[in-house]
Amino acid sequence: MAKPMFLRKLKNQMFFGMAKAIAGAPKGQYMAFVGKASCARLCDRIVELGHTSILVVTDKALRDLGLADEAVAGLNRDGVKLTWYDKVDPDPSYEHVKEGAQLLRDSGATAVLAVGGGSSIDCAKVIAITKHNDEDPSKWAGFGKAPEEVAPLFVIPTTSGTGSEATMGAVITNKAIQKKEIISGGGLLPTCVALDACLMVGLPKPVTAATGIDALTHGIEAYISTWERGNRSDMGRTAVQGVFRWLRLAVEEPGNMEAREGMALAAYHAGVAINQVNVGNVHAIAHQLGANFGIPHGHANALVLPHVLTLYGMTAVDRLAELAVATGVSDSGHPETRARAFVDAVEKLIADVGIATTDPRVKRHAFDTIAEAALDEGDGYFCPRLLEKAEVLGVLDAISESE
Ligand SMILES: [Fe+2]
Repeated sequence: MAKPMFLRKLKNQMFFGMAKAIAGAPKGQYMAFVGKASCARLCDRIVELGHTSILVVTDKALRDLGLADEAVAGLNRDGVKLTWYDKVDPDPSYEHVKEGAQLLRDSGATAVLAVGGGSSIDCAKVIAITKHNDEDPSKWAGFGKAPEEVAPLFVIPTTSGTGSEATMGAVITNKAIQKKEIISGGGLLPTCVALDACLMVGLPKPVTAATGIDALTHGIEAYISTWERGNRSDMGRTAVQGVFRWLRLAVEEPGNMEAREGMALAAYHAGVAINQVNVGNVHAIAHQLGANFGIPHGHANALVLPHVLTLYGMTAVDRLAELAVATGVSDSGHPETRARAFVDAVEKLIADVGIATTDPRVKRHAFDTIAEAALDEGDGYFCPRLLEKAEVLGVLDAISESE
């Protein structure tokens, strides 16, 4: 049974008040390199900072392809001792964190370098905390509970979507309770990032499409958030513009470096935006689709995004109308007309990159559980408005193929 709306609004307002009180000014990125030589420059930076022993966190596929080794070639040349933890799987668990932490301890490495997608980056973030803390990592689950003192964290992303390279959060699976947990804290903001499109040209089309729509969702949810904070509007708008400009091309021409770099930057800017105001109801529903049906995160966002934007109606009309102008979709007419044109353009972009509007994995038996969990999560975000349970059920009905 969903809680009464007045109690949900009260919880949301209290949460918002607390977040504003404790958040302070947004923390800025220390340094980000972009382009062909960015990995080499990041390696130089690691050496300049005096590190002579590094733990590299990645996955086996990137290691086997030689991409991870290529990315850190500069460290090898400078004689930095590299210890590899290359066993990160999708949706990393605390077991992965503990394995990496053991290597960090045994090697005496003074910093952690993530090479990979969101899974490797998130795992590396929590491993970095263990440098100065030997508590069980599951104790840090929750917003702002991660200790501030962590090993310096360097990141080379190989996908364009999660934005984890620009945030102070990590998602780790707690297998004991079958739940994905968020660990966050100021110390988890990477020290230095390299955005090198060369590492992204091999991404399969469906992954490029889904991760790109994840970045789009981050940009939009940050832009329409009710929390006016830092530069989230500029970063959110820039991210949305970037995805509209480059995603189709990155999917159609995987080797197009300009498109790949455009998407890497869009995902990074979107990450900077959600690092300030978090995500919203699209993610609240999409997370449940991932947990219940194993639908990849970006794909789940793509299914849900147009529906939630439509549901917001008048509560988000001005901000969505602004995005219509920013993306060149529509620059005239009543704000409602422009907002509708933007949502239609989002729908078209999702279709153009090959993501269907329905999914056979979305099964009716879990609708009630999903709707309850989505409302509970969504009440903790700063969205144009809270959704009703019937509205979430309507979204699930619209994206499902089951009778
Ligand atoms: Fe996301």
